[in-house]
Amino acid sequence: MAGIVEHHVFDTDIYIGREINNITLMELIGRGAMGAVFIGYQKSLKRKVAVKLFPKQAENAGNYRIHFREEAEIVAVLNHPNIVQVIDMGETSEFLFIVMQLVAGEDLRSMIHRHQLHPVPSKRLIDLQKVLGIMLPVLDALSYAHEEGVIHQDIKPGNILIEERTGRIYLADFGIARSAMNEEGDEPAMIMGTPMYIAPEQICEEQSDPRSDIYSAGTVLYEAIAGKLPFQITTVEALINLKLNSPETLYTMPPSRCCRRIDTELEKIILKAIAPRKEERYQNCRSFYHGLSAYCKNRFGGESV
Ligand SMILES: Nc1ncnc2c1ncn2[C@@H]1O[C@H](COP(=O)(O)OP(=O)(O)OP(=O)(O)O)[C@@H](O)[C@H]1O
Ligand SMILES: [Mg+2]
Repeated sequence: MAGIVEHHVFDTDIYIGREINNITLMELIGRGAMGAVFIGYQKSLKRKVAVKLFPKQAENAGNYRIHFREEAEIVAVLNHPNIVQVIDMGETSEFLFIVMQLVAGEDLRSMIHRHQLHPVPSKRLIDLQKVLGIMLPVLDALSYAHEEGVIHQDIKPGNILIEERTGRIYLADFGIARSAMNEEGDEPAMIMGTPMYIAPEQICEEQSDPRSDIYSAGTVLYEAIAGKLPFQITTVEALINLKLNSPETLYTMPPSRCCRRIDTELEKIILKAIAPRKEERYQNCRSFYHGLSAYCKNRFGGESV
């Protein structure tokens, strides 16, 4: 699905060296559908931070504001070892910004792709135990957030960061995809990025639901294990239509056929998380976490990772 995301035409070079509050933007880390993330240097505390910028479009510069701030305040309250800490947020005349804890390492999207491109076929998948060691902290963080009343709404491999030095897992971008949109336009979040991970009901329902995050997390789990999801849709429109009208036909084969290391138990867990109807999914993220953790113990023994 890479390549589907349309980046705003947005020249990031002009921001290098720029000062925001106390922070100097140093280099670009990467860009997403709506903005770009930079390494910043915070002089007061002599530390590096991550700064995400969302350029304002001239025609709707005024409308983002309230929504953005409210969401950032909710997210700032979250305090969990596997959630990227939000340090500050604000705006200039040109852009909205969020200052976050910097996680030096790789995101799960590039980890999956890096493996897929490996010349040796047996190394094209991330080790299964390692995948579970990434997804369990993600599900724990998500359970905590849900228990605090916060829904992520944009769970995808690009928002799961693996810190190189410690191996620690961080979930980034809580509620941000939605909150950075202008209030009036308020289009569903997936129009902005890839709709691959979005739950079918998230496309049309106004009300957000923790079970939509469970669907997305299940899809990420499936992709990280299988390397690639078995579907043939090639355009955003077709994918959205299919998810709206016949989401049960999305995948062309069951997980265990798509990837041999998915056994019956793991298949059950995946299928329950990605059930098209939210009533058929895990009803809360904690039970998804416990299901996967028990599986991990059974398959690999010892304490869950
Ligand atoms: N706090 C952070 N520390 C280090 N790297 C980060 C941090 N937040 C994001 N990144 C990296 O910056 C890149 C761009 O992030 P961004 O959130 O803009 O895009 P995305 O999550 O891929 O897509 P989207 O815009 O749809 O959320 C990502 O590849 C991610 O790895
Ligand atoms: Mg992101």
